[in-house]
Amino acid sequence: MSTTWTPDSWRNKPAKQLPAYKDEAALADTEQRLAKLPPLVFAGEARNLRKQLAEVCEGKGFLLQGGDCAESFAEFGADKIRDTFRVLLQMSVVMTFAGSVPVVKMGRMAGQFAKPRSSDHETQDDVTLPSYRGDIINSLDFTAEAREPNPERMIQSYYQAAATLNLLRAFAQGGYADLHRVHGWNLDFVNDSPLTERYEQLAAEIAQSLSFMSACGITGDKTPELLRQTEFYTCHEALLLPYEQALTRVDSTTGKWYDCSAHFVWIGARTHQTDGAQVEFARGIHNPIGMKVSPDVDRDSLLKLIDILNPHNDPGRLTLIARMGADKVEDKLPPLLRAVKEEGRKVVWSCDPMHGNIVKADSGYKTRRFNDIMREIKGFFAAHRAEGTHPGGIHLELTGQDVTECTGGAHKIDDADLSSRYHTHCDPRLNANQALELAFLVADELKSMGKPGLNAQVAAAE
Ligand code: PEP
Ligand code: CO
Repeated sequence: MSTTWTPDSWRNKPAKQLPAYKDEAALADTEQRLAKLPPLVFAGEARNLRKQLAEVCEGKGFLLQGGDCAESFAEFGADKIRDTFRVLLQMSVVMTFAGSVPVVKMGRMAGQFAKPRSSDHETQDDVTLPSYRGDIINSLDFTAEAREPNPERMIQSYYQAAATLNLLRAFAQGGYADLHRVHGWNLDFVNDSPLTERYEQLAAEIAQSLSFMSACGITGDKTPELLRQTEFYTCHEALLLPYEQALTRVDSTTGKWYDCSAHFVWIGARTHQTDGAQVEFARGIHNPIGMKVSPDVDRDSLLKLIDILNPHNDPGRLTLIARMGADKVEDKLPPLLRAVKEEGRKVVWSCDPMHGNIVKADSGYKTRRFNDIMREIKGFFAAHRAEGTHPGGIHLELTGQDVTECTGGAHKIDDADLSSRYHTHCDPRLNANQALELAFLVADELKSMGKPGLNAQVAAAE
């Protein structure tokens, strides 16, 4: 691999999953316009996130990443953004308490538009058209015109991302994220759940801790930054490189390149070839980055990719997002955890229990079963317990809305319910209740790992 990196050096590498734009002049014009628009995030924020992920890498934190499989133009709106933000906050309170460590919150939002596809084409009846690749590229409707990649969609995505980020920043800083309020929402969830008894103890413990803090004088008025505000980051897959390149800017403080389309971007399971364009692009930006790890990745290629993406072995730079599938996690993950540990590579290990667990229901809907998702998460924690490594986070496809896309959970959604509120443009998401139920179950796993935050404090006091 060449050592000179520039924001466009990916153009000399084989690129998978990029659309073939017919009108090259229109593409070039769009790229130039995008390159003149303001960055969506500030490099200093990405650096802060990288520091927080370095803590996660050392076992002193947990990463929660979640949001739509694909954001869409049609469903863009304040309620939807608010609901996803809210469920992520609710989950993070439960997990912070159970793990006694800070939870780093990241939305798959404000830029999660481009989708890798297993086939370039889709055939319906006798008609074959280009596959839908996400609203930033083409449209879902099954017509030749809609499926034609259109660069102008990158501009619309940029403005949607900007408006989404604006609202997220307002929610995070403006009082909406108040800890007491979030706990109140969790109580509503617990009281309405068919499994109330199972969750009520943890909810009561959290309530007690909040009262204790108030009694000690730690209140939202006195310490708003602790109780009324939160840090919230955005992330998406760095797939559509013309868009990512146009938003890659030099940080005036450090002189380094940052992809200012999001705080964190990741490389997907279909585009992590060591000599591929997406890997080339990601290696040169200084954001914290992620990479999906599927069951077909072997020890040597994983170590090679780690060295390309994190040559200085900086903790917090690289998050490996394992997406093995519930049936494979037990066999496939431990050897990789062992290899990375033996070779002294510093990474955050996160678990994506969604993408290895897609099944087709008899009704024809693409779905995921809550139990498979949970089985993979348990397998992920068990592997870390066995290898003595830190289970650093989870990466989920979820929405704060009441959809019926994944089956199972306490409300027992079954195959026959899928059609009632199946809204996703891409993969099936957990709904708000399923996501919270999962957070309580992850809390049990975190508790069983011991309390690293507490242990560290006790050790420091001794
Ligand atoms: C995704 O996260 O939406 C995705 C396509 O994942 P993967 O690259 O792991 O298949
Ligand atoms: Co997906």
